[in-house]
Amino acid sequence: MKKIDKAKVFFLDHLELFRCPVCESDFINVEGNQLICREKHTFDLSKKGTLHFLLKPSKSEYSREMLLARQRIAQMGFWQPMLDILYPLIETKQGVTLDVGCGEGAHSAYLRGKGLTGPLIAFDISKEGVNLGAATYEDIFFLVADLAHSPFQAGQFDTLLNILSPSNYDEFNRLLKPGGQVIKVIPGSDYLKELRAFQPEEKQSYSNQNVKDKFMEHYKNPSIHPVNYTVDLTEAEVSDFLQMTPLGWNINVSDTNTVSLKQITVDMEILVGNK
Ligand SMILES: C[S@@+](CC[C@H](N)C(=O)[O-])C[C@H]1O[C@@H](n2cnc3c(N)ncnc32)[C@H](O)[C@@H]1O
Ligand SMILES: [Zn+2]
Repeated sequence: MKKIDKAKVFFLDHLELFRCPVCESDFINVEGNQLICREKHTFDLSKKGTLHFLLKPSKSEYSREMLLARQRIAQMGFWQPMLDILYPLIETKQGVTLDVGCGEGAHSAYLRGKGLTGPLIAFDISKEGVNLGAATYEDIFFLVADLAHSPFQAGQFDTLLNILSPSNYDEFNRLLKPGGQVIKVIPGSDYLKELRAFQPEEKQSYSNQNVKDKFMEHYKNPSIHPVNYTVDLTEAEVSDFLQMTPLGWNINVSDTNTVSLKQITVDMEILVGNK
């Protein structure tokens, strides 16, 4: 089945998950490849089966080249140890999962491969990220949307994945079913420390305490799961790696003692809270 037809079937099967980003009313039908809300606003499914739900264009700091580099880094397994710790924390593998700020979608794809069986929706404000994800991965419904104007109905989601991306806890609470989970991945102070060494003084140290405190305010008994490992990079991977993260953008590979970038530290924390 073509991607657009698969997406149409998914959308029709899960109309209850979505709301019109313009007027917030229900979607009632799909005619041809066009979705129609109760107030008659229409949106086209793209050939890749994605939806574009931004009301005004957004300029992302990630270009297609950077996203391709991020995809290659994901595909060499850079995030796998983190995702292997995260996966068992998901309480409802057959539930409805929403990947908030999914980037190019590799995390959702890996978790799908590990055994998430329920509906899996991934969205990002970056059209390039969503396009790349939709072109690469199967069985994930990708859309371009802004967390600040979220096109989803209240109380429908079992799990929100919030991996290295912005949060909006009021919105998370609106989206979650009672007892639903937020799984948020944040950098620790040694995250990519080999890159921090090249940064201006004020960016060399980082504390995630404020982010953690904010999470604690919203979820009374959160669990915190540390993630620490190192990844060995080849020379080609070092260049991709420098492109994939804003911390690498001011580093020139040819000026750099790339030997110091052959082994990269991943230090993160996974915060889990229930509504
Ligand atoms: C550091 S990237 C992480 C992407 C992906 N989760 C990953 O770990 O590879 C942060 C992502 O958040 C997205 N983002 C930022 N603001 C957003 C918003 N208001 N709504 C949806 N996505 C947003 C960015 O476009 C970007 O893809
Ligand atoms: Zn509408």
